[in-house]
Amino acid sequence: MAMIIDGKQLAADTRVQIAEQVRALKSRGIVPGLAVILVGDDPASHSYVRMKEQDCEEVGIASFDHRRSAGITQDELNALIDSCNEDHAVHGILVQLPLPSHLDEEAALARISAEKDVDGLHPMNLGSLVRGIEAPRACTPWGVMKMLERYSVELEGKRAVVIGRSSIVGKPQALMLLESNATVTVCHSRTVDLPGICREADILIAAVGRPKMIDADYVKPGAVVIDVGINRTAEGMVGDVDFAAVEPLASAITPVPGGVGPMTRAMLLANTVAAASRST
Ligand code: GUN
Repeated sequence: MAMIIDGKQLAADTRVQIAEQVRALKSRGIVPGLAVILVGDDPASHSYVRMKEQDCEEVGIASFDHRRSAGITQDELNALIDSCNEDHAVHGILVQLPLPSHLDEEAALARISAEKDVDGLHPMNLGSLVRGIEAPRACTPWGVMKMLERYSVELEGKRAVVIGRSSIVGKPQALMLLESNATVTVCHSRTVDLPGICREADILIAAVGRPKMIDADYVKPGAVVIDVGINRTAEGMVGDVDFAAVEPLASAITPVPGGVGPMTRAMLLANTVAAASRST
């Protein structure tokens, strides 16, 4: 029987702390502000953005909502990002991904002022992570690190395996685990003997985007299993991990929903408050 890592509760606790920090900033005349740019009508993106805006309201962060049709040009998107960069009421800017395919995601992310990049995806901030310099950090992998810390999962000297090599999760996750002195392996679609490598992991982090792919064959008894997947299927939202098959083997595991997702959103709030604090 695994311990269930309760991301929902940890995120709620984190929001209480953040609300306190927001009150302190407001007493000094600073209202933290987050601009959210949402292009097109992807239902999942709309749902994420709604939740992010609710979170902001709960903790007292002002949110500025910029919804644009899928037909927006790169120039128009650039101009919108520029106006948010220049707006003193905006401390954090988030461009919801994915963007429609005619838009250049890399150009959009790089155009956000690095100080306002609360997603931690600007090349400068990803570079700072590589260099070990303090800077805004990608919300999902940072949220995972906070969960591991809260549940006292020892990382030093342990084998961590990350499945997935995206810039938004896999790569920054590997760097953060490395920073905590884990021995890190990053696996991906071309990895040979994925189950065998995963079975070496003391900490297994699945960020693949394939529903219930990780079953008992991938898990060493006693491993800590973190499920980053959010897959919408006919049976509802499921993770990358087959929870029913893996939970009896693992020592600790995150559920989906109620695991990594809420922590990602909490880290966005934390990055926004940190950006507002730095702006003074
Ligand atoms: N789309 C899915 N996850 C994310 C995220 O963490 N940040 C942004 N900007 N878009 C996303």
